[in-house]
Amino acid sequence: MLILPEIVDRNVLDAAVAHARGQGVRLPTFAQLASPSTIPAATRAALGGVPAEDAHPLNLFRIHWYNEAGGGVTSAPAWFEIPSALSGVAARIVVMPGDGFPMIAAHKVLAAYACLVTRLVTGRFDPAAHRAVWPSTGNYCRGGVAISRILGCRGVAVLPEQMSRERYQWLEEWTLHPEEDIVRTTGSESNVREIYEACDAIARDPASVVLNQFNEFANYLCHRQVTGPAVQALYGDLARPGDNLFAFVTGTGSAGTIAAGDHLKRELGARIVAMEPVECPTLLVNGYGEHNIQGIGDKHVPLIHNVMNMDAVVGVSDSVPELMNLLFNTGEGQGFLARRAGVEANLLKKFSHVGLSGLANVQAAIKLARYHDLDEHDVIICMATDGASMYASEMEESRQAYFGGDFGAAEAAEVFGRCLTGCEPSYLLECTHRERQRIFNLGYYTWVEQRGVALAEFDARKRQGFWDNIADSMAEWDELIVAFNEEVGLGEVG
Ligand SMILES: Cc1ncc(COP(=O)(O)O)c(C=O)c1O
Repeated sequence: MLILPEIVDRNVLDAAVAHARGQGVRLPTFAQLASPSTIPAATRAALGGVPAEDAHPLNLFRIHWYNEAGGGVTSAPAWFEIPSALSGVAARIVVMPGDGFPMIAAHKVLAAYACLVTRLVTGRFDPAAHRAVWPSTGNYCRGGVAISRILGCRGVAVLPEQMSRERYQWLEEWTLHPEEDIVRTTGSESNVREIYEACDAIARDPASVVLNQFNEFANYLCHRQVTGPAVQALYGDLARPGDNLFAFVTGTGSAGTIAAGDHLKRELGARIVAMEPVECPTLLVNGYGEHNIQGIGDKHVPLIHNVMNMDAVVGVSDSVPELMNLLFNTGEGQGFLARRAGVEANLLKKFSHVGLSGLANVQAAIKLARYHDLDEHDVIICMATDGASMYASEMEESRQAYFGGDFGAAEAAEVFGRCLTGCEPSYLLECTHRERQRIFNLGYYTWVEQRGVALAEFDARKRQGFWDNIADSMAEWDELIVAFNEEVGLGEVG
């Protein structure tokens, strides 16, 4: 839904302000989240006493890419580079871990914040009267439930039943009424239609406000304006003379994160590359199917995906991140990598910051580098939305499923050759205008035919000006956030 930065209901807004005051909640602006050094020093100092895992109002000021333990902010976002001994290619492949975000250890809390704050400051959401409904395949709904807790409102997570046990455990602890506030829908990762149907049923109650990340343009806005500049700062930190940011690679779920690519293409000429599971190749070939790269590959083209600006799609089998998870996060796998590729223990530990979709992005980056014959001056930055801790239970299942429970040096060698140094640049689609049109048109069936989006609104998304206008609306949103805080009147520490 395209929400404009205009107050629609003064009474609802007044109620939200009063409620926020009671909860001790002040809201960060998008500009502050993009440049956290601009967050008032008193707020940052106060954060030092607040654990990042707590549902504390000040943790809203940690929803950015520059978190340092103890509440400080770093000069650039965290990153680490995959050595050629692991990737088998000369190009510099760099991972950007998103697990430094508070409360859920995944950057999806940023999208959740953006989708709620835009309602809150325009009088569209009264935390005392409404409940926030978060349709998701796992991390976004956790982010939404965390934000709901801070605001002191009901948050309802709607997600497929087959998502990882760790996600469900987290939700059991964080939802106010787990039996009602966790809604399990049929199927797996790619069953998004079932999620929509559950939300439609819930939305019949007018007290329920559905914050659908797949069509909320605030999700686009925050990633273009907060994540995009963060990736740019990261690149500034790592670039050597003569380097070139060749591409930004990320798996698309709601297609929020990939909006950072629009910023990076404009500022640095980087290509925008989507990774998707070959078992559900919707962008690649209008395909469908079941897969286990949790968080991505949702069998449709989100309304907020700026498809006409995308440069390539790389398919990765869901077996790849499952196998890589075993390779990087078991003693046997790590021992093999240290011996065979000479990888230092410190670097190996960094893979604990890379969950399944991040590992798949790494393989997509390797394929891209191989396809384009990239050299040591070409940099590919790939996203790791969450860390390995969300998939410990999946690792045991993979050990059984692929190797009958026995994962040793021989099995590690197989994974190393198959998923890293020996992987071929298969399932790689360079987007011509015709391919972009095909993918764009595919979205028509979901959004216009099934979800009732007006054709003019759907078509407007073909023009880059449409997306630039959303990015440019950030200043107006920030004015509303500042005005909201002034009315709440808590000062800088809350
Ligand atoms: C683990 C994981 N990876 C990737 C994504 C995709 O990110 P986006 O929805 O911004 O496209 C998600 C989204 O929930 C996710 O949870």
